[in-house]
Amino acid sequence: MRIALASDHGGFEQKEQIRDWLTDQGYEVEDFGCNSTESVDYPDYAAPAARAVASGACDRGILVCGTGIGMMLAANKIRGIRAANVTSVPFAELCREHNNANIVTLSGRFVDLATNESIIEVFLRTEFAGGRHARRVEKIMDLEN
Ligand code: RB5
Repeated sequence: MRIALASDHGGFEQKEQIRDWLTDQGYEVEDFGCNSTESVDYPDYAAPAARAVASGACDRGILVCGTGIGMMLAANKIRGIRAANVTSVPFAELCREHNNANIVTLSGRFVDLATNESIIEVFLRTEFAGGRHARRVEKIMDLEN
């Protein structure tokens, strides 16, 4: 599985650790920055990572900012993206099972690394449930037209 990873300065430190942790597990990770704790604008990093997921170049995306909220809002502007801001493991499971989220956005300031790693583990391994949820997700995607 190929993963698009990005952060702003608020998520930079966790993003670096998440990249190494995923690489150690054998995931292919494309790191779209940022590259330091210097202040940057999160849409500049959310957009290329989200485009990589939307185009199919990457299978899933992981975006980290201070709260995860800005990254989620920016990523969801890209056609084909369903980005969910997740702060708990049950929500990681549900955003995959019910919403077929293709990007998870994380808080680097309010959620610790171990919790975010558990969220990522569940996000990456949980399949979309389909069925009645497929109809609902199709209706979300129709809103792009
Ligand atoms: C940057 O200070 C902060 O606003 C950003 O990391 C994020 O939390 C936005 O949603």
